[in-house]
Amino acid sequence: MKELWQSRTSFVLASIGSAIGLGNIWRFPYVCYECGGGAFLIPFLVALLTAGIPLMVLEYSVGHKFSKPAPLALGNLKKGFEILGWFALLVGFGIATYYAVIMGWAFNYLGYSFNMAWGDNTQGFFFDQFLKISESPMQLGSVQWMIALGLVLTWIAIVAAIWKGAKTVGKVVYFTVIIPWFILLVFVARGVTLPGALEGLKYYLTPNFSALLNYRVWLHAYSQVFFSLTIGFGVQMTYASFLPRDSDVVNNAFLVSLADAATAFVGGFAVFSTLGYYANQTGLPVSEVVRSGPQLAFVTYPTIIRMLPFGSLVFGILFFLMLLTLGIDSAFSLVEAGAASLIEKFKWKRINVNIGFAIVAGLIGLIYTTRSGLYWLDIVDYFMNNFGLLVVGILMCVAVGWFYKHEEIREYANSKSDFTIGRWWDFSIKYLTPIVVGALFITNVVDRVKAAYGGYSRIAEFFGGWLVIIAFVVVAVILFKKKGRT
Ligand code: PHE
Repeated sequence: MKELWQSRTSFVLASIGSAIGLGNIWRFPYVCYECGGGAFLIPFLVALLTAGIPLMVLEYSVGHKFSKPAPLALGNLKKGFEILGWFALLVGFGIATYYAVIMGWAFNYLGYSFNMAWGDNTQGFFFDQFLKISESPMQLGSVQWMIALGLVLTWIAIVAAIWKGAKTVGKVVYFTVIIPWFILLVFVARGVTLPGALEGLKYYLTPNFSALLNYRVWLHAYSQVFFSLTIGFGVQMTYASFLPRDSDVVNNAFLVSLADAATAFVGGFAVFSTLGYYANQTGLPVSEVVRSGPQLAFVTYPTIIRMLPFGSLVFGILFFLMLLTLGIDSAFSLVEAGAASLIEKFKWKRINVNIGFAIVAGLIGLIYTTRSGLYWLDIVDYFMNNFGLLVVGILMCVAVGWFYKHEEIREYANSKSDFTIGRWWDFSIKYLTPIVVGALFITNVVDRVKAAYGGYSRIAEFFGGWLVIIAFVVVAVILFKKKGRT
């Protein structure tokens, strides 16, 4: 029998948990700083209102209306769209394979934080001692066993969290959403009271309005919103399908989207105030010490943690605990959406699906635990987000806006909500979002025609990028063609 959310809070927290992830801490503040500081909030809010929230409403409404996981719900709009749903989930699966490895690093670093094993040279520690990074993607080198162990722990945690589907997820998210929020606030409080904090915050937020004239800044805003809200993966659609019949749609979409955006904004305070402190202590300008992604979390933060005037031990542990709890509910939302879809269509046993998923994804994930793992992670991440996710976003809008009665979806959403959305929603789904995201997609294609991603070789780009996308299309078609059981 299908498991439903036990309460509205469970659903809202699960959806927020999926949205709030590493991206809020290590991506948003950096993109904001790079794209005009405080001025970036304008394109960001525009993207949130014109594309993020409308798509969230779309995913919730379609999932709820048909009360089926993404591929089957989309298949109800028009048969062939089921392929789109499977493809979306596969992109999510691709992300889960490496997201779990990052969690595995965080598990290791949680251990290291007990004695700050990273020492003074955090850069050398992370790249040379921990990852033992090789020269290039094609030099795989051996699996690093401690990272693989972290990966195993992560998959055990994921499987435990989705053990009985929505029933367990609905309980786990109370912890995985509230704990990182709480820790984040601790870091904001700690950060802003450090010397130099103000200088860091100035870098974060001083508006540079001329950035708004650069179309790439706008594109960054849209891609950040998509990534951050976890839309375009079929996850939110699937989560909404577990809602009881009389649940609200529009309010929840606003609530979750705004909570995610607010967390990213607040995350910037934690990050930039501590970067200001770092600059202050080393005498370097803030612009020299800003980093994003793994560099920020595993190189810069460990250094700052060592520098803190007191409580390094506690802050170190808290920091990696925050990363783990932030990330894990994003990771398991991807897995749960995939698992629920397979179970619904093929009537496989949940326990088999859960464990099978973990084994397959864990084995694929071993690639990222080799010495060239970070390179592959980088390439796959870029392709999943810029080719997988964007394509799904566009096609979902096209599916509803052009091949279905979009008014019907809007009316459905409104019938379920105490405040209603107007025709602007139709406009956004039919024209605005597909056009803007289409432009984003085209700039990416042009960039890739000009040069391979990130300075890697074309061969590495092919294996980590194009081949993965092609494989996902093929698997999506197979899953679509394969007869389900009723
Ligand atoms: N929304 C997550 C974040 O902000 C990113 C994510 C997207 C994670 C999709 C998993 C899947 O970090």
